[in-house]
Amino acid sequence: MCAAENILEKHSFDIEGGNFSNAGTVSTKIKSILKQKNLPDDVVRRSAIVCYEAEINIVSYAKKGVISLTIRPNSVQIEADDEGPGIPNIELAMQQGYSTANQQIREMGFGAGMGLHNIKTYSDIFDISSEVDKGTFLKMTIHTQPAKD
Ligand SMILES: Nc1ncnc2c1ncn2[C@@H]1O[C@H](COP(=O)(O)OP(=O)(O)OP(=O)(O)O)[C@@H](O)[C@H]1O
Ligand SMILES: [Mg+2]
Repeated sequence: MCAAENILEKHSFDIEGGNFSNAGTVSTKIKSILKQKNLPDDVVRRSAIVCYEAEINIVSYAKKGVISLTIRPNSVQIEADDEGPGIPNIELAMQQGYSTANQQIREMGFGAGMGLHNIKTYSDIFDISSEVDKGTFLKMTIHTQPAKD
């Protein structure tokens, strides 16, 4: 069966660039949706982390974006699609400690250059693509069923 057919639930959330007063609310919502589905704690926690990092990056760097949550029988998928400056060098941006965060972002406690690295670490499958002056697209998949041996 193709992946599009067995979607159990899909939710989408708009994110406004630069609006730090709302930053983190989408990841809180996603966490509560996944908890209600009785998914394993580890899946809920990892989903909330990857969502939070993607959300903060949209608020910090992009003009606007959409985060979507897709729940399938065996996986949780979080996609973050933004309109913004894009990332000129993805390999560099993925490195721990690399950040272009400005003073305002750093004063709020962000800008350690760990977000994308953590997203990759906590996802089972991670895809990133970006186009300069257009935007950035992230796709994170977290398996909900432990691998059978
Ligand atoms: N959605 C995005 N649009 C444009 N640039 C981005 C986006 N996400 C990340 N970047 C670029 O990649 C760099 C690394 O991002 P990453 O999330 O790893 O670290 P950070 O946001 O700088 O710090 P931290 O996430 O630890 O608070 C950012 O500093 C920024 O230059
Ligand atoms: Mg970040």
